[in-house]
Amino acid sequence: MAERRDLRALFLLRGDVAFFNHGSFGACPRPVFAAYQARQRELEEEPVEFLDRRGDELLAHAGAVLARFLGADPLDLVYVPNATTAMNIVARSFPLGPGNEVLSTDHEYGAVDRMWRMVCAERGAGLVRAEIPLPVPSSGEVAERIWACVTPRTRVLSLSHTTSPTAVEFPVAELVARAQERGILTVIDGAHAPGQIPLELEDLGADFYAGNCHKWMLAPKGAGFLWARREAQRLLFSVHGIEVPVIPRRGEALLRVSVQGYNTARDLGALMDALPDELRS
Ligand SMILES: Cc1ncc(COP(=O)(O)O)c(C=O)c1O
Repeated sequence: MAERRDLRALFLLRGDVAFFNHGSFGACPRPVFAAYQARQRELEEEPVEFLDRRGDELLAHAGAVLARFLGADPLDLVYVPNATTAMNIVARSFPLGPGNEVLSTDHEYGAVDRMWRMVCAERGAGLVRAEIPLPVPSSGEVAERIWACVTPRTRVLSLSHTTSPTAVEFPVAELVARAQERGILTVIDGAHAPGQIPLELEDLGADFYAGNCHKWMLAPKGAGFLWARREAQRLLFSVHGIEVPVIPRRGEALLRVSVQGYNTARDLGALMDALPDELRS
C-alpha cells in the first residue's frame, strides 16, 4: 500500500484541499487525466477520422474493459454522460399508464425522485415511496419494508444500490429476485456502486442498471453507463432526440448511445425497429 503522501501526489488537487467527496465527483488521478487530455487532442487533430472512423472501435474497446469490470457482456452496455441520463432513458421509455405504480423509496437521489414524479404525473401512473426510517434498520427489514409496498398495480421497482442522502447499501439482489418472480421491472440507480461495491451485473439480473465511472472509479467527468438485460432492451427507445439507444449489429440488439450526443440518419431505421409495437403507429 502506498504512503498517503504518495497517493496525494497522484492527484491534481490543490495542496490546501482535503478531498473526501468522490461521491459527488471523483478527483481524477494525474495519469488518467493525462490520457484523457491526449485523447481530446487526438480528436481535435482530425475530428472526422477520430469520431467517425475510429470512434466505434475505441468505444467498443473501452466498453469491453468496463464490461469485464462490471461482470457484464459488452453488448448490453452503453456509455452515457451520467447515471441520471441513464435513469431518464429508462424511465421515459416505459409504457406506463393510468393505474400503474412505480415503487421507490424516500432515500432516492433528488433528480431521480423528481424524474419519477414527472414521468408518473405525465402518464397518470402512481409513485409510491417506501418509507425507510433513520437509523436505517437491518438489510432484511429494509427489504420487507420495500416489499410491503408492492401491490397488483406495481409495474416498476426503482432503487438506489447505495443511497445518496444516507449512504446505505440497499438489498437490491434480494428485491430484484422477488420482483422478477412477480413480473415487476427493476431499475437500479448504481451511481455510487462501481468502485465501491464489487459488481456482477449479469448475475444481479436487474432489468436496467445505471452507473457512473466518474465518482468512485475516479474517471474523467461524463463517464456514465447504462446496462440493460438483453430481453429488456426492446423497451428502450430514443428519448432526447439525440440518443441512439439500439442498433442491430451481428444479429444482436446492440445498445448504443452516442456520447457525442449527435444522431445520424443511418441509425433511425434501427431506432424505429426498436420501438415497442404499441408505440409505432
Ligand atoms: C444515488 C444517486 N443517483 C444519481 C446521482 C447522480 O449522478 P450523476 O450526476 O452522475 O448523474 C447521484 C449523485 O450523487 C446519486 O447519489
